[in-house]
Amino acid sequence: MAIRGIGSDIVEVSRINRLRESYGERFLKRVFTRGETAYCESKEHPEIHFAGRFAAKEAIAKAVYQSGHNTIIPFSDIEILNDAEGRPQVSLLTQIQGKCLVTISHEHSMAIAFAVLEY
Ligand SMILES: CC(C)(COP(=O)(O)OP(=O)(O)OC[C@H]1O[C@@H](n2cnc3c(N)ncnc32)[C@H](O)[C@@H]1OP(=O)(O)O)[C@@H](O)C(=O)NCCC(=O)NCCS
Repeated sequence: MAIRGIGSDIVEVSRINRLRESYGERFLKRVFTRGETAYCESKEHPEIHFAGRFAAKEAIAKAVYQSGHNTIIPFSDIEILNDAEGRPQVSLLTQIQGKCLVTISHEHSMAIAFAVLEY
């Protein structure tokens, strides 16, 4: 296995709030899977977790494109759920060679993510 692509992204939590206010369910359904929405909405500050996932999806898309794949991946085809320890695990519904790893971090106003594609 070797690293084929890396990506990062930073997102302002207020941007996610604006999108949720403007487009509501339509925005959530377009970007997040049901499982992700359920996870974020179970938290005290859902917007922070949505922002982290949004950053993670951008970071994963960058890692995939950097590896040479030309396929456009809809964000709703990237699912990031947490394992029992809280670690974010990536599932890609678009068929892409390899495995994506991601790490997410957030504060009240910003979220960042870093992703790696390996195969
Ligand atoms: C993992 C840990 C370092 C996160 O640090 P933090 O400063 O509180 O949080 P950050 O804002 O930097 O990061 C939060 C993100 O880290 C990720 N994360 C959570 N637990 C994680 C873990 N065990 N390993 C890797 N990543 C983890 C998640 O993606 C989370 O965001 P999300 O809930 O929106 O998906 C901290 O919770 C810790 O030390 N945990 C110890 C392990 C632990 O508590 N396990 C719980 C078992 S039930």
